[in-house]
Amino acid sequence: MKHPADDTLATAAGEASPDTETLHERALSALITARERTTLLTSCVEGPELTAQVSPLMSPLVWDLAHIANQEEQWLLRAVAGQEAIRPEIDSLYDAFEHPRSERPSLPLLAPDEARRYAADIRARALDVLQEAAFHGTRLTEAGFAFGMVAQHEQQHDETMLVTHQLRAGPQALTAPDPDPAPLFAGPVEVLIPGGPFTMGTSSEPWALDNERPAHRREVAAFFIDTTPVTNAQFQAFIDDGGYDEPRWWAPDGWQHIRRHSINAPLFWHRDGGQWLRRRFGVTEVVPAGEPVMHVCWYEADAWARWAGRRLPTEAEWEKAARYDPVDDRSTRYPWGDADPGPEHANLGQRHLRPAPAGSYPAGESPLGVRQMIGDVWEWTSSDFAPYPGFRAFPYREYSEVFFGSDHKVLRGGSFAVDAVACRGTFRNWDYPIRRQTFSGFRTARSAETA
Ligand code: AVJ
Ligand code: FE
Repeated sequence: MKHPADDTLATAAGEASPDTETLHERALSALITARERTTLLTSCVEGPELTAQVSPLMSPLVWDLAHIANQEEQWLLRAVAGQEAIRPEIDSLYDAFEHPRSERPSLPLLAPDEARRYAADIRARALDVLQEAAFHGTRLTEAGFAFGMVAQHEQQHDETMLVTHQLRAGPQALTAPDPDPAPLFAGPVEVLIPGGPFTMGTSSEPWALDNERPAHRREVAAFFIDTTPVTNAQFQAFIDDGGYDEPRWWAPDGWQHIRRHSINAPLFWHRDGGQWLRRRFGVTEVVPAGEPVMHVCWYEADAWARWAGRRLPTEAEWEKAARYDPVDDRSTRYPWGDADPGPEHANLGQRHLRPAPAGSYPAGESPLGVRQMIGDVWEWTSSDFAPYPGFRAFPYREYSEVFFGSDHKVLRGGSFAVDAVACRGTFRNWDYPIRRQTFSGFRTARSAETA
């Protein structure tokens, strides 16, 4: 399985790759963790709220639920185990390409109780398949890939469903403890990432998705990157300076877009007298100064960076800052090394319903000293979503390949809302540059030559 050019799992400790039994346990626990989250997200509001649409950008929650199960049926029961379709007539309802989100509330969807029964039935059968599955022999089952992919898919929809919760009106339906408060970050504001090649992407991470592959060498010139994501206070300084009224900070398309839609602050913010408030999961609160800014689109991130005399990092710069270990001259799985994420490393998995203050998680720091690259907020990069050299679509073109091109910008690092199973140093997310409802922020960079 190991690719000669991939140093991703060449751990200093010489750990063997996880054996089959461990991978079975991991697959089982990833599926269970995802279902617990899905269940919470679809049971904390009443039935009518499950079938309603809060925004044309989002599906009714009951669509996500049955779509999760339908994908599980297609990949684990049909593709892996060769079983017949249980309800072939519903496949098209839950095909994301046949029906755009705006159309989904008008489809004859399974009612909430039916969707729950369908999901539970598929899951029971999928666990039987897992118990019998050999984790080798085909690319789909190698190291339990299909099970890992299905767990990641469910967790990605769990993040999407949390976005739906953020958009819904009405009182708070979800609660979680806040992250620990952190003293104002007093370390260096930026970190120098030395120039030179590094290994980007992976060929050995067993559950990495097609767009993360293969591992390949990338040349990156020396640059500086922010130690932490840009905070609400830093973003407010741009607003106070009239940043939304100054065309010179904006990409031309972005300027047109914010004018046409009267955008003058991050989504969910509003001004009340002298202060900025925001709505977060049904509660209105003062915008916390030290927290990474979120609900900004790519154009707002790009404009803020230009105003600050900086720029967004490229995707390759972002990954080098997150993974490159100059001591061993190799790329690690995560900023802190090769260990799976723990609560000391990063804010992931909806453990909290907000990002942690900038400068949190010293244990999650990269070898070069960059903080919070994993978790908290997705980070916009300057790069379009493009295939790596040697990319092969697997197992379906509609996961990544159909989205390659200049319409989508890459986001990296994951947010507080995504589970660790769907977040790695190599994980790639993408969206339209106008999207703001997601848990996305940014950090900035500058080239070292112009220092
Ligand atoms: C990778 C987050 C852009 O939600 O559109 C879910 C993930 N793909 N079902 C999305 C996905 C198919 C995808 N993103
Ligand atoms: Fe999906």
